Amino acid sequence: MEDFFSLSGKTFLVTGSEGLIGLDLCKRLLEAGADVISCDLKSPTNTSNSDKNSFFECDLTTNKGLREFKDFIRNCGVKINGFVHCAYPRPESWGKLFDEISLDEVSLHLNMQLSSSIILSRIICNYLKINGGGSLVNIASIQGIAAPKFHHYRGTSMSSPIEYSCVKSSIIIMTKWLAKYFKNSNLNINCVSPGGVLDKQLEIFQNNYKSDCNNIGLLKPKNVSYPILFLLSDQAKGISGQNLIVDDGWSL
Ligand SMILES: NC(=O)c1ccc[n+]([C@@H]2O[C@H](COP(=O)([O-])OP(=O)(O)OC[C@H]3O[C@@H](n4cnc5c(N)ncnc54)[C@H](O)[C@@H]3O)[C@@H](O)[C@H]2O)c1
Repeated sequence: MEDFFSLSGKTFLVTGSEGLIGLDLCKRLLEAGADVISCDLKSPTNTSNSDKNSFFECDLTTNKGLREFKDFIRNCGVKINGFVHCAYPRPESWGKLFDEISLDEVSLHLNMQLSSSIILSRIICNYLKINGGGSLVNIASIQGIAAPKFHHYRGTSMSSPIEYSCVKSSIIIMTKWLAKYFKNSNLNINCVSPGGVLDKQLEIFQNNYKSDCNNIGLLKPKNVSYPILFLLSDQAKGISGQNLIVDDGWSL
């Protein structure tokens, strides 16, 4: 019988590996026996370079960084079986109110978060195609599939920015576009749309948010990581171009 969910002997590269989701994902991949290449703008705080886990520092929003990324994956000496794009660049204007954000600021968000993801995914998919196939998991969000539940933010200074929703819905259609474009290349391209992840949000927000969920409320990072592990596994090969919503029922 096939080993269920076995990722051992495979190598995965995680962008945004030092973030809330990326850090947990790298840990779960290592626990599942995979080799992990962590990739982030900032150096690791508590991951150490080891035989199983190496680190590559890179700014994925610049031409220079994207060139370095391309050179790195070509020359790193191992076949990378799958990529998870968790990096999320936040310009200073992140979270600015709808009535205050300027044209230049919106353009900057779209450029850093969407344009860079398009070019990065081209680099990744072409690499996988040349190397016999593999998987790519992009990270979208529930904010890309539905309008925000604005009442959750009442009593806080938080908001869910319009440009975030626009970027995330674009990541979902980008994923579908790529899956079809790379038809017959043995590529497995999907995305995950997580609900909010617990990260020191105000209690009032946590409670508001939970009122529209089924059991958990704000997710733990592992609630997002395990479904990604599944999408990276051979058992998910029949899933192509899909957006897996992981939100404890927020969107129902
Ligand atoms: N945290 C949530 O509640 C949540 C919910 C839904 C979706 N998501 C999505 O999941 C993904 C990961 O989110 P997160 O909460 O882990 O974010 P995070 O901010 O904790 O981590 C993002 C990581 O990306 C890195 N990064 C930023 N700019 C970069 C660049 N130019 N080049 C390379 N790396 C760069 C950062 O250093 C950071 O380590 C994002 O796409 C986010 O939109 C998060």
